[in-house]
Amino acid sequence: MRCLDDFRLHLAGKDLVPIMQGGMGVDISTAALALEVARLGGIGHISDAMLPTVADRRYDTKYVKNKLKQYKFNVENADKSVVKFDLDEVAESTRLHVEATMKAKQGDGLIFINCMEKLTMNAPKDTLRVRMRAAMDAGIDGITLAAGLHLGSFALIEDHPRFHEVQLGIIVSSLRALQLFLKKTARTKRLPDYIVIEGPLAGGHLGFGMDWQDYHLETILVEIRDWMQAEGLTIPLIAAGGVFTGADAVRMMELGAQGVQVATRFTVTHECGLPDKIKQEYFRASEEDIEVNQLSPTGYPMRMIKQCPAIGDGIRPNCEAYGYLLDASGSCQYIEAYNRAVAEHPGERRVKVMDKTCLCTHMRNFDCWTCGHYTYRLKDTTHRLADGSYQVLSAEHVFRDYQFSKEGVALPEQAS
Ligand SMILES: Cc1cc2nc3c(=O)[nH]c(=O)nc-3n(C[C@H](O)[C@H](O)[C@H](O)COP(=O)(O)O)c2cc1C
Repeated sequence: MRCLDDFRLHLAGKDLVPIMQGGMGVDISTAALALEVARLGGIGHISDAMLPTVADRRYDTKYVKNKLKQYKFNVENADKSVVKFDLDEVAESTRLHVEATMKAKQGDGLIFINCMEKLTMNAPKDTLRVRMRAAMDAGIDGITLAAGLHLGSFALIEDHPRFHEVQLGIIVSSLRALQLFLKKTARTKRLPDYIVIEGPLAGGHLGFGMDWQDYHLETILVEIRDWMQAEGLTIPLIAAGGVFTGADAVRMMELGAQGVQVATRFTVTHECGLPDKIKQEYFRASEEDIEVNQLSPTGYPMRMIKQCPAIGDGIRPNCEAYGYLLDASGSCQYIEAYNRAVAEHPGERRVKVMDKTCLCTHMRNFDCWTCGHYTYRLKDTTHRLADGSYQVLSAEHVFRDYQFSKEGVALPEQAS
């Protein structure tokens, strides 16, 4: 019987442990988590979601306060088209986070940044260009283009001096999405260095409709593997979504993956950015507590724990401070939902908004508990303590469990 350690992922001239820890915004996949995975010889992802906010928290900057001050006059206005990001500040915050992370890197692994293309920031192309280039300037090892894959992304960085050196990857959930991307990108004469195939059991936003249950990671992986073979393409495939044990990972490798991307198991580690109280919510969640809903203003289905405060909360849109989901014309589906709720309940001090959620504010405050399908199995990966809480794990324990276990999940040493 084999374990994941019997395989290696060949990328960037290295032989890596084939474990990628997936990006989790907003700062759920912290630098500390990604650095630990890289130290152990895998690939850790930081996230580029809402980095001005993250920088304020971690590097003592004042980006959010300054933006709110500049646009305060617009707070009561439903039209948010004037609210723009200062591109220099977006670049600066990305550089701060990436530089600090790369400076602390140890070991043989790599640090990538997960670039959420759905963060349209009222100027999709310009802000994406600035975020990718700043991460490259600051020495990131690789960029993974995620949610809302923008077909022209490679072209936005093709004149950057590191364009052919930095590792570039994409996340797709279907062969068709991959084919479209490769066709559109052919002009840049640059193929992705790796392809993450994300199935419907993943956390965060899904690349499927509400019929996600009709799809299976294994089937999509095999379909893409066969097409790649027929085309003579040899790009490493990374399987993601519901890979919960080392044995699950080995099954993916035997189907033709060169690595796995995993996230849910790391949400209950010390290094993960979720506050401790919320890690306990992830441990406690039962299967019935987890739903895929359409509350994200991005239009993509998202998986969440039902009890999270983000659901139903009618907070006033906070785009003057945040505004990461404003589209190119300054609209966001939450603003529309909120205004509808206010119009239907005149005079009410706090409305309930049931159809969308203010994702910026709630992700920023860790009030939107997005999670993978198998979150309900996390309680089986640790010990229950005398006070009824669950023992939080170390990222090293989870990483090693994926790397060496042959069946099931090894429990950690019990905390004294
Ligand atoms: C809490 C959480 C947040 C996530 N946020 C993002 C994100 O910001 N961008 C992204 O591309 N994927 C995101 N994902 C998806 C993961 O990177 C990963 O591909 C997927 O969850 C792997 O499946 P698993 O969680 O079953 O291991 C998130 C997953 C979780 C659990």
